[in-house]
Amino acid sequence: MAEFSGSEAAHLLGGLATTFDFLPSEVLNMALVPLRLLLDHAAENGYGIPAFNVNNLEQVQSIMEAAYETDSPVILQASRGARSYAGENFLRHLILAAVETYPDIPVVMHQDHGNSPATCFGAAANGFTSVMMDGSLEADAKTPASYEYNVNTTKEVVDVAHAIGVSVEGELGCLGSLETGKGEAEDGHGFEGSLSKEQLLTDPAEAADFVARTKVDALAIAIGTSHGAYKFTRKPTGEVLAISRIAEIHKAIPNTHLVMHGSSSVPQEWIEMINKYGGSIPETYGVPVEEIQEGIRNGVRKVNIDTDNRLAFTAAIREAAASDPSNFDPRHFNKPARKYMKQVCLDRYQQFWCAGNASKIHQRDINYYAGLYAKGALDPKTVVAV
Ligand code: G3H
Ligand code: 13P
Ligand code: ZN
Repeated sequence: MAEFSGSEAAHLLGGLATTFDFLPSEVLNMALVPLRLLLDHAAENGYGIPAFNVNNLEQVQSIMEAAYETDSPVILQASRGARSYAGENFLRHLILAAVETYPDIPVVMHQDHGNSPATCFGAAANGFTSVMMDGSLEADAKTPASYEYNVNTTKEVVDVAHAIGVSVEGELGCLGSLETGKGEAEDGHGFEGSLSKEQLLTDPAEAADFVARTKVDALAIAIGTSHGAYKFTRKPTGEVLAISRIAEIHKAIPNTHLVMHGSSSVPQEWIEMINKYGGSIPETYGVPVEEIQEGIRNGVRKVNIDTDNRLAFTAAIREAAASDPSNFDPRHFNKPARKYMKQVCLDRYQQFWCAGNASKIHQRDINYYAGLYAKGALDPKTVVAV
């Protein structure tokens, strides 16, 4: 993965600020847009946008087909793991192929959980229109970071990214279970050991200070969700899923778009299907859709989902393999996988009230946004005393 220091990035990205000419202009002029554009539209119109993780062709296709059928704006996000799995160029071209195939759907290419400014600058240099600087953890993606470290690294990314119109998501508070105090390191990103309740819940007053100092476009918050399928041992109550905290944070930073990570609902139907065809997934629960909807009513605009799509994909592959054991054509497995994953995406676009909005969004590219940031037009507006 290409990574750059702050000064290298500033130099490299500064040269791209007015042209961004390593991407074909016909593609840029179509539908690759910054995150800020979509989240502002979602806030003005009271809906949330699922941000789906992608690693391969079939996942990109599932999402785009669902978005096309529901007229929904799209956030495709790639983790560091995805970038190393697929390779920078393959990922970028898969996403550009989506943009080219569906020119009327605005698409964000977002770096998920950047562990350092270098990772974020590398993503921006590769055409990502949005990056997440996750400074809640240190660069090893394991050690909980100090507040000052988080502010400083996030601000470093914002300063460079905004100069070229790229959006920035920050994170305050560590994702992890309020049931056990543990993080979820299943995907290599999550703290080790146990944390206190204070560390696992975003503090509204600190959030207001964080946003004022960093000028992030969106803030990921910790409310008891964690990555992966094993979030809760039973259907979650307010004790372990602090949805009410979202309203408190929203009150403190009403103009900042909130992001919910670890938002898979872990549908029981996929677990049953996986287990029916030889899998072994123990009883587990995710974030109920109605709780996410409550979050959306209180300022959540970006809802991160990876696990639900992974479950649907795997369920389809297991079912297809069992249904025709002599078949060795990968398309025999990938076609139903694409169909089941598409169903998850269709559901979420509808459930988050996102459907019907793609065609209402006036598309703008990062160069236009660089101008807005330079004028201070997108600075955080209100910081309410809490
Ligand atoms: O960051 C959370 C996503 O589920 C990404 O997972 O790092 O295995 O691609 P990954
Ligand atoms: P899930 O594992 O709940 O799908 O969360 C994904 C996520 O937050 C990616 O950043
Ligand atoms: Zn996440």
